[in-house]
Amino acid sequence: MKISVCGKGGSGKSVLTSLLANQALSRALGVLVVDSDESNSGLFKMLGFESPPVPLMELVGGKKKLKQKMSSPNVLAESHLFTKDIPSQHLIRRNGLMLISIGKILQALEGCACPMGVLNREFLKKLRLGENEIAIIDMEAGVEHFGRGIDESIDRVLLVVEPSFESLTVAEKIKELASGLDKAVSAVLNKIDSEKIAHTMAGQLRAKDIEVVGTIPNDPLVFEACFEGLSLDRGEAFQAAGMVLDNLLAEK
Ligand SMILES: Nc1ncnc2c1ncn2[C@@H]1O[C@H](COP(=O)(O)OP(=O)(O)O)[C@@H](O)[C@H]1O
Ligand SMILES: [Mg+2]
Repeated sequence: MKISVCGKGGSGKSVLTSLLANQALSRALGVLVVDSDESNSGLFKMLGFESPPVPLMELVGGKKKLKQKMSSPNVLAESHLFTKDIPSQHLIRRNGLMLISIGKILQALEGCACPMGVLNREFLKKLRLGENEIAIIDMEAGVEHFGRGIDESIDRVLLVVEPSFESLTVAEKIKELASGLDKAVSAVLNKIDSEKIAHTMAGQLRAKDIEVVGTIPNDPLVFEACFEGLSLDRGEAFQAAGMVLDNLLAEK
C-alpha cells in the first residue's frame, strides 16, 4: 500500500508520517518513507536518523540532467523498482524503517521544483513494494502535487487536518482533486485539544464526504520532540497514530 500524507503546510504531515512509520515498525512491517517535500528537511530527525539520505535527485545528476538521465541506463530507468535496488546512500535504513528523499531546494534562484515533481511521480510509479512493506509519502504542502500527477500511483490519500479554517479549505480542495483521480481519501484530525473540536471538525469533513479515520491529540511530547529534533515514537499522539494505522490496514 502506498499512502500519501497531504495537507496544509504546518498541519502535521511530517509528524503523522513519522508516527505512522514508527507504529508500522512496531508491527514488524517494512516501512519506506518517501520525503517528497522539497522545502523542509527535518523529517530524518523525526524518524530517528542521524543524517538525511542523499536525495534521489543526486542519483540522476541533479535537476539539469534529469530528462536525459531518466532514460539512460541507471536504476531509475528500470520499469520496476524494489527497495533493495536503490543504492544505500539514497535509501537509508534503521531496523525495518527506510527513508528516501526526492530532492531539496538548496539555493536561491536555483529554479522551480518541477523536475522534482517529475522524478517523484516516476519514482512512485515504478516503486514495487514487498508483501509486508508499506510506503508513506510525506507530500509537499498544499495541492500542487495533484497538478503534477504525483498522486497517480498512490493507493490512499491521507489528509492531515488541523483546527483552522485554512486547513479545512485545503482538505476540501484535496478531496476534490483526489476524487478526480479516483483515489480514496480519508482524514486524520491533528493537534486536537477537545472532544468538541474533534466533533465539529468531523462533522464539517463528513459534510464534504470525507471520512475521518483518526484523531491525534495536541501532544506536548510531539512539540518537544519537534523542537529538539527527537524521534517521534512515544506518548499519546503515538498511541493515537496506532489506531489510524490499524484502520488503514483493515481497509486494505
Ligand atoms: N499532534 C501534535 N501535537 C503537538 N504539536 C504538533 C502536533 N502535530 C504537529 N505539531 C507541531 O506542528 C509543527 C508542524 O508539524 P509538521 O509535521 O512539521 O507540519 P507539516 O509537515 O505539515 O508542515 C511541528 O513542529 C509541531 O511543533
Ligand atoms: Mg513537513
